[in-house]
Amino acid sequence: MTPSDSSNRRLLVTSALPYANGSIHLGHLVEYIQTDIWVRFHKLMGRECLYVCADDTHGTPIMIRAQREGIPPEELVARMRTEHQRDFAGFNIGFDNYHSTHSPENRALAEEIYLRLRQDGHIRTASVRQAYCEKDGMFLPDRFIRGICPSCGAADQYGDACESCSATYAPTDLKEARCAVCGSSPVARDSDHFFFKLADFETFLKYWIRSGAIQEQMANKLDEWFLAGLKDWDISRDGPYFGFEIPDAPNKFFYVWLDAPIGYMASTRHLCDRTGRDFDEIWRRDDRFEVHHFIGKDIYYFHTLFWPAMLHGAGFRLPTAVHAHGFLTINGQKMSKSRGSFLNARSYLDHLDPEYLRYYYAAKLSSRVEDLDLNLEDFTSRVNSDMVGKVVNIASRTAGFLRNRFGGKLAPVYPEDGGLFDRFVAHGEEIARHYEEREFGKAMGAVMRLAEEANRYVEQQSPWELAKKEGAEAALQASCSVALNLFKVLMTYLKPVLPAMADKVEAFLNVPPLSWENRVAPLADHEIGEFKHLMARVDPKKIEAMLTAARGESPPPPPAPAAAPATQTKGAAKSVEKVKTADSGAAKSAPAAAESHPGGGEIEIPQFSQVDLRVARIVAAESVEGADKLLKLTLDVGALGTRTVFAGIKSAYAPDALAGRLTVVVANLKPRKMKFGLSEGMVLAASGEGVGGLFLLQPDAGAEPGMRIK
Ligand code: 2FM
Ligand code: ZN
Repeated sequence: MTPSDSSNRRLLVTSALPYANGSIHLGHLVEYIQTDIWVRFHKLMGRECLYVCADDTHGTPIMIRAQREGIPPEELVARMRTEHQRDFAGFNIGFDNYHSTHSPENRALAEEIYLRLRQDGHIRTASVRQAYCEKDGMFLPDRFIRGICPSCGAADQYGDACESCSATYAPTDLKEARCAVCGSSPVARDSDHFFFKLADFETFLKYWIRSGAIQEQMANKLDEWFLAGLKDWDISRDGPYFGFEIPDAPNKFFYVWLDAPIGYMASTRHLCDRTGRDFDEIWRRDDRFEVHHFIGKDIYYFHTLFWPAMLHGAGFRLPTAVHAHGFLTINGQKMSKSRGSFLNARSYLDHLDPEYLRYYYAAKLSSRVEDLDLNLEDFTSRVNSDMVGKVVNIASRTAGFLRNRFGGKLAPVYPEDGGLFDRFVAHGEEIARHYEEREFGKAMGAVMRLAEEANRYVEQQSPWELAKKEGAEAALQASCSVALNLFKVLMTYLKPVLPAMADKVEAFLNVPPLSWENRVAPLADHEIGEFKHLMARVDPKKIEAMLTAARGESPPPPPAPAAAPATQTKGAAKSVEKVKTADSGAAKSAPAAAESHPGGGEIEIPQFSQVDLRVARIVAAESVEGADKLLKLTLDVGALGTRTVFAGIKSAYAPDALAGRLTVVVANLKPRKMKFGLSEGMVLAASGEGVGGLFLLQPDAGAEPGMRIK
């Protein structure tokens, strides 16, 4: 139910909880910026609007990563949370509360919801057969199994889908399956799992998804799931698992996706405890607060089926609305490290003003579930032309005259302006409607049209001419006063998008915080402060510098989410890019081998434990007659002696440049007879799609030939 009296509206708003195992990137920021603008808009309207979020901390990838770093998972999630909060703050994402799913509040609520569902018969148990690694003593989520695709034969594929031919399959179909953590072969093992009986809620869900709570596009997609029949949802995982143990079920843990959305409530609870608010008023009844979730289109299933069913089944209120958005592309393509377009929040902030991105995203966002393209040229010209050329320009061309000629004083009475100011104020209705409906692009369009009108006014008045004319003092003060008042109204409209600039403008205009309501009264007989620089033009060199820096950065590690929601690991969600590295480090994006025998390797990459990698010194390197691409390398591999390896690296290295250098060799590769002689190994080099060149791996100084690489 949506309380209809708009002035009394109270809202709780959430963005999806970012995984604790990856950094925030520009894909994520589409959502946080979208949500933040919406929240700031409601606050500007004078409504109580609480924006809560948290880190999503549980699951196998985080556990494995912490193990690998030799730290407890709690330490890892604390570190990531600090990093996330720092990045969000950098983009002025104004959460009212930021919490963690690994919190006492979340545990209590997860248990409460689960017990209530169990008590009402919505939980059943069933035995599940799964891949189990005896060496690691754990069940392996699909993304932690690697092997040969049963469909196309591609090596080194995940347990659920082939990235080469896009086939999907069960992990048991994978050929030569290996544990991605240790490389050993998993066995099949049975264990009891808990299932949430989603089908119990079919009638309720069918009604709810057509109740106006979700976008039509999403509701249509859900129809496909209904047609296929709602499946019970596996909500438990066996230990070891980083999560909450299930009541009365030793060594069984809630699956991360069970307690992730409950994290919205946990963060609310934390906020309430901190500020003396009533949690029950928000989550146990639906007539006081609206609850709005902003999410990416990849996780709609969790938020529009499981989540409302869980809430309904456990006696909590339902979300007022779930708002899904599309993915980010950069220059029309998926974010990609090799193209230098995998942009982390931090690399952006190191080079560019966060408000550029906030404005650009706002200008391109709509209420539809559409992908958004960050075209860097368009970004530059749009920000420069709209923000600097149209908006800031109004103030920068007029403020100086008031300061220098009138001691900063605006005209004593608001001047006759032909109804301009009133029209600017009246447009607030339309702009507010666009904001409310998440049609930010339309809102920005309307604001820019007004900005053009204000600029036309300034041109017509030409204060720089009036300043030269004798006896035009009053006209000069009047025109600058009108211009600054129009500017003030525009900045009120832009405040949800540009909070930092709005702060500066409030100081410059010497006014209390801009609000929708107080936009209606023009300033007169008022002394403004000093005009300070509000926003610099986007410098294309800084964009270049950001891209260069990004080329040197690794993409975040989490495995990508699979299409079907009931899979076992979770992935970073908010960009089109499906990150290819398993968090296990079984490296799909590991250096491409510069093959000593171009026919292909004899061992599978994920079988790392079987691969004997050694430091080698290149004693000699020479061209091979009749082979354009090959160099013949003589390697000193310490105790393993001297090896000859033919490597396809001639395009990147002159033979002379290699002698004396250290590199990495696969020392136990079956020797291969080639036309030119016997190749006794393989040296490792990196190459990336879309970037030229080959880069031979080289250990840090101090490594000795023969050292084993683990
Ligand atoms: O897809 C994701 O990035 C998840 N971490 C989102 C969780 S949203 C909510 F359910 F917690
Ligand atoms: Zn293993």
